[in-house]
Amino acid sequence: MKSLHKKLAVILLIDAFIIHSVTGGYAKKWTEDKCSPTSLPDHVAATAATYTESTKPRALVTGAAGFIASHVAQYAAEQMKFHVVAVDDLSGGFMRNVRPIYKHGGVFVKGDVGNDTFVRELFEQHGPFDYVYHLAAYAAEGLSHFIRRYNYNNNLVASITLINAAVRQQSRKVQRYVFTSSIAAYGAVEDPSELPMTEETPQRPEDPYGVAKHSVELDLKAATHMFGLPYTIFRPHNVYGPRQNIADKFRNAVGIFMNQILMGQDITIFGSGEQQRAFSYIDDVAPLIAASVLYPNAAGQDFFVGVDDPYTVNALAKMTRTAMDKPDHPIVHLDARKEVSEAFASHAKLRCFFKPAPPTSLAKGLQITADYVKKHGSYPPTGYRNIEVEHNMPPSWTVWLKNTPTLDAAKEKKEKNLRAKRSI
Ligand SMILES: NC(=O)c1ccc[n+]([C@@H]2O[C@H](COP(=O)([O-])OP(=O)(O)OC[C@H]3O[C@@H](n4cnc5c(N)ncnc54)[C@H](O)[C@@H]3O)[C@@H](O)[C@H]2O)c1
Repeated sequence: MKSLHKKLAVILLIDAFIIHSVTGGYAKKWTEDKCSPTSLPDHVAATAATYTESTKPRALVTGAAGFIASHVAQYAAEQMKFHVVAVDDLSGGFMRNVRPIYKHGGVFVKGDVGNDTFVRELFEQHGPFDYVYHLAAYAAEGLSHFIRRYNYNNNLVASITLINAAVRQQSRKVQRYVFTSSIAAYGAVEDPSELPMTEETPQRPEDPYGVAKHSVELDLKAATHMFGLPYTIFRPHNVYGPRQNIADKFRNAVGIFMNQILMGQDITIFGSGEQQRAFSYIDDVAPLIAASVLYPNAAGQDFFVGVDDPYTVNALAKMTRTAMDKPDHPIVHLDARKEVSEAFASHAKLRCFFKPAPPTSLAKGLQITADYVKKHGSYPPTGYRNIEVEHNMPPSWTVWLKNTPTLDAAKEKKEKNLRAKRSI
């Protein structure tokens, strides 16, 4: 027994050493004099002050009616003084999210960035662009197993369609293609010593969403090699905040929990709830993505973006109840689904390159989000419904898909009821 204890102690010591040398060593690498001397807000303000109306850079932001891209577009228009062309097909976003750019001369174009003809016309009519921020995607990681073709068309082929357009623009070269990948490109770590993940952790995506993001990352590197297209890749993780789509049943834990509370439904957690994620407030993500193009040394670089501290999903659910002023709202656990149990990352490299403002605490971020969500009210749950493969789908999703009418069908039913009432 004694020798077993000794063995365990040695293993723990070795583990601690490996963890220190992987994460501590990596963090150290990014705290040297090559890091930015000025804070991000100061750098942005100083650069914006140099533009006149005629020298304003032109930026294309895709997915701009959505959550993260609408904040990126607003920051670029408001703080960075860019002329912003916002694009979205409104499959998952809302027009109200785009409006803040209008008073800064921004324009909105509705369309699908997976449609090559649309993208060609977009560049002809609204380009040339100095910067392309590509954020449009359907970011439902868990559902991506069951909508594989849609996932690859919308998240991979559409990204390549835009890369082609950026490369073709030769009149004025695109100076940066900013792409939002995801921590999903990494999949699960093989060994706990790989946590927190760093940009150097090997990518082993485990679901089609992560595979699509990983593939776009590879294609961007190939396009840079072949055509000299400068890129910056960001990997956000578990971002939440005002403007997030809280209706979608298949993504955004914070949004789902808040909508369940508003609708008087139990909060549902897949499995034990001990999965760990670092839930990141939007203000600790969007300004970095937007401002990255102002940093020449960020070209050809990739970054995790978000906050460091992981929380369990159980802790998140409890903190969400508090923020929503419903501390006793019931929480139920559903069968576990296949998902990565721990996914969080180091942001040492991000802090080194950009010197961002200190991050928002989870409690504060949730409170701001809850206040916004309460103001806008609940939504009937929605989500992508053209399921391609039904095998092994979480039973709660199968039941919901079977029993819930599509939004159009729901609208039709409501109208039919109204007509029936009127005819009485
Ligand atoms: N939210 C997160 O935690 C998170 C984490 C990692 C990566 N990301 C990535 O960040 C980006 C933004 O995510 P989000 O959370 O803001 O999602 P979101 O759904 O709120 O925004 C995406 C927007 O893209 C639009 N869109 C989708 N397909 C389109 C198409 N083919 N053409 C035009 N518009 C299209 C949708 O209508 C939506 O408005 C995505 O690329 C996502 O993969 C998000």
